[in-house]
Amino acid sequence: MVSGNKIENGQKMREWIDQILDKVDRKLRVTAKRIGDTVPYTTGADGKYNDQYAQLPEAWTNGFYPGLLWLMYEQTGYEDYRKYAEKIGEKLFRIFEYPSRLHHDMGFLFQLSSVKEFELTGHERAKETGLLAAIVLASRYNIKSRYIRAWQGDGEKGTLGIIDCMMNIPLLYWASETEQDPRYKNIADSFAHTVMKSHIREDGSANHIVSFDVETGEIIKSHGGQGYGYGSSWSRGQAWALNGFAQCYACTGNRDYLNVAKRVAHYFISAQGDEDIPLCDFRQPKEPHIVDSSAGMIAASGFVTIAGAVEESEKDFYLQAAVKQIDTYDKKLCNYGLESEELVPMGTVDYHLKGGIHIPLIYSDYYFVETLCKLKAYFQR
Ligand code: GLY
Repeated sequence: MVSGNKIENGQKMREWIDQILDKVDRKLRVTAKRIGDTVPYTTGADGKYNDQYAQLPEAWTNGFYPGLLWLMYEQTGYEDYRKYAEKIGEKLFRIFEYPSRLHHDMGFLFQLSSVKEFELTGHERAKETGLLAAIVLASRYNIKSRYIRAWQGDGEKGTLGIIDCMMNIPLLYWASETEQDPRYKNIADSFAHTVMKSHIREDGSANHIVSFDVETGEIIKSHGGQGYGYGSSWSRGQAWALNGFAQCYACTGNRDYLNVAKRVAHYFISAQGDEDIPLCDFRQPKEPHIVDSSAGMIAASGFVTIAGAVEESEKDFYLQAAVKQIDTYDKKLCNYGLESEELVPMGTVDYHLKGGIHIPLIYSDYYFVETLCKLKAYFQR
């Protein structure tokens, strides 16, 4: 795929991507038939996906499986993918009945499911759901301290803004575009500017969590969050940062966002070094050797967005990084067998969460397929 420093020609790249997507399709058809409108998260000891919706309907991860179905429906036209994605979309809508349980992850939940459904089918219900999700997200913006509040809860919980939320704000840009109403975009821009100052460090790494003074916006402190500890560098957080800022550039054309995305991408590539799968935290101790496959794919998807935005002379650098990550996972990591349901093993929820280390995660699968689809679109230009 990469010869010397050059990416192979577009035709060869498309064939390579199609071969991988065919393997995904073969496997997903079997899974989709078995699990129907289940909303999976990780697999159990039997290798089968469990039902996250049954435990936690509003879980931030519940948009990834319908999102995966929509991506594969777009690629293949296979009707079962559409049927189950629509059913799950109807289920997810029910979480709006419990406003007190809603949180910042409206983009993860509804951009990948309802907004994608609207894009592919024109369904009005899906569009309205996307707009409702944007309204909920916008309502979490603190006008004085200029951040979007993460999670629920009182005390310190109410003061937290997180890097992951950069992935939610493209929903706000979409809502502004769809409604021809700048309010959502203004909130997204304001939050992105806060994050540039509060979360992105000089060396291109990023804080996961920051506490703000809720009246003034002054930064109180940063937290290690799901990474190793204070001042460390949780790889999935770095991936959310570069992917989120790259999307913000794609939505706005603001080159400050692109420059931040590039800076974090450079940091990510050099911090990953020659690890096949990124470490869970780039600043964790040597042992135990904990990795997170999801971080590699979230970053790869962001690299493709950056490649689409930069000058011709820079494109191959980012494409190579994405292609290398996909190629490594395809050859060394992915499970295309039909006996179990996960596609990409070795995800890690949190450096410190026993039982959440080196497990299949539905978002690793989602971003693997999203990256393939984005690469394919890139080489179709
Ligand atoms: N957004 C939560 C996580 O990345 O685990």
